[in-house]
Amino acid sequence: VLRTFASDNNAPVAPEIMEAIVAANVGDAVSYGADSWTERAVARFHEHFGSASDVLFAFNGTGANIVALGSLLRPHEAVICPDSAHLQTDECGAFERFTGSKMLPVQSADGKLRVADIEPLVAHAPDQHHVVPRAISISNATEFGGLYTLHEIRELCEFAHRHGLFVHLDGARICNAAAALGVSLRECTVDLGIDVLSFGGTKNGMLAGEAVVFFDGALHAAAAPFVRKQAMQLASKMRFIAAQFDALLTGDRWRAYAAHANAMAQRLERRIAAIPNVRITRPVEANAVFATLDRDAIPAIQERYFFYVFDDTLPEVRWMTHFATREADVDAFADAVAHASTIGAAR
Ligand SMILES: Cc1ncc(COP(=O)(O)O)c(C=O)c1O
Repeated sequence: VLRTFASDNNAPVAPEIMEAIVAANVGDAVSYGADSWTERAVARFHEHFGSASDVLFAFNGTGANIVALGSLLRPHEAVICPDSAHLQTDECGAFERFTGSKMLPVQSADGKLRVADIEPLVAHAPDQHHVVPRAISISNATEFGGLYTLHEIRELCEFAHRHGLFVHLDGARICNAAAALGVSLRECTVDLGIDVLSFGGTKNGMLAGEAVVFFDGALHAAAAPFVRKQAMQLASKMRFIAAQFDALLTGDRWRAYAAHANAMAQRLERRIAAIPNVRITRPVEANAVFATLDRDAIPAIQERYFFYVFDDTLPEVRWMTHFATREADVDAFADAVAHASTIGAAR
C-alpha cells in the first residue's frame, strides 16, 4: 500500500463516503440536481450555514472558484488576492480565460491578505484605463498551511464591504481551518462577512466534489446556475456528489476527518522538530508541514515516499497529511527523514 506525504488529494475515499455513494446507486434519479439526494445535501448545508445560503455543487476546486467569482464579476472588474493564491498560481489561468477578468496579486510572505495590501488598490476613483477591484479572494487554511484568525477575516470583510468589494473564501481546506480554530463552519465564514465560499470536499475524504455557497442569494442575481453550466461544472448525475456531501456534513464527520488530518501534521511536526538538519519553516496550523533540509536527503526520502519540493532554491519541501494518515505512517515517515538527514550530515 502506497503512503505519500504529498497532498490531501493523494488520499483514498473515506469509507463512510464510499458507502454513501454505493447507497445512492439504486434505481433512477432525475438528473442535474432535481433528485432527493441533492435536496438532502442542500438541507445539510443550510443546517451548517443558514437557510439563506444558495448552494451549487461542482466537480472540482478550480471550477468552484470560477463559479463563485464568475457569478459576481464583470470582465472589467478584478480580484485582489495574495500572490500565492491557488487561483493565481495553480489554476492555469482558468479564472482569467473563463471570466475575462484580471487577478491583482499582492505580495505576501505568509499567504495572507491584509487590509494594508488592499488599501492602495482601492484608494482611487475608478478610471476607464484601469480594471476596477470588485472582490478579494483569500484561502483558509492558507497555501502555506496557516490560518487566518476570525478577527483577521472579520477585519478584511469589513474593509472590503466599505469599499464595495465582495469577499470570496477559497475553502478547499475550510474544514481543516474550522477544526483547527475550534469553531463551526458558519463561525469562520458567513458570520464574519464572507460573501461566497468554495467549500472543499475532495481534500477531506470525498471522491470528488466541491460546493459553491453564496451567503446572500441576491449577490449573484441568479447568474450562478448559468455560469456553472457554461463552466462545465454542472453534473448530470448530481446525486453522487450530493450523497457524498450529505455524508460528510452529517454530524461532525467533516470535523473528525479534518481534525485527524491536522493532528497528524502536529505529530509530524513534533517528530521532525527533533531531527538535526531539518528546519520547520512555517507555523503548522492545519494539515501541512513545510521544512528545509539537506538537498541530498530529499531524493533519499523520495525513494520511499512521494512529496513535492515546494521551493527548489532553498530547498523547501511541503509534507501534507489527510483524514486517512495513520500515526504509524507519520512515525515511519519521520524515521525515514531522520535516517536520510543523518546520512547526509555524516558525509
Ligand atoms: C486552496 C486550493 N484551492 C483550489 C484548489 C483546486 O482544486 P482542483 O484541483 O480540484 O481544481 C486547490 C487544489 O489543490 C487548492 O489547494
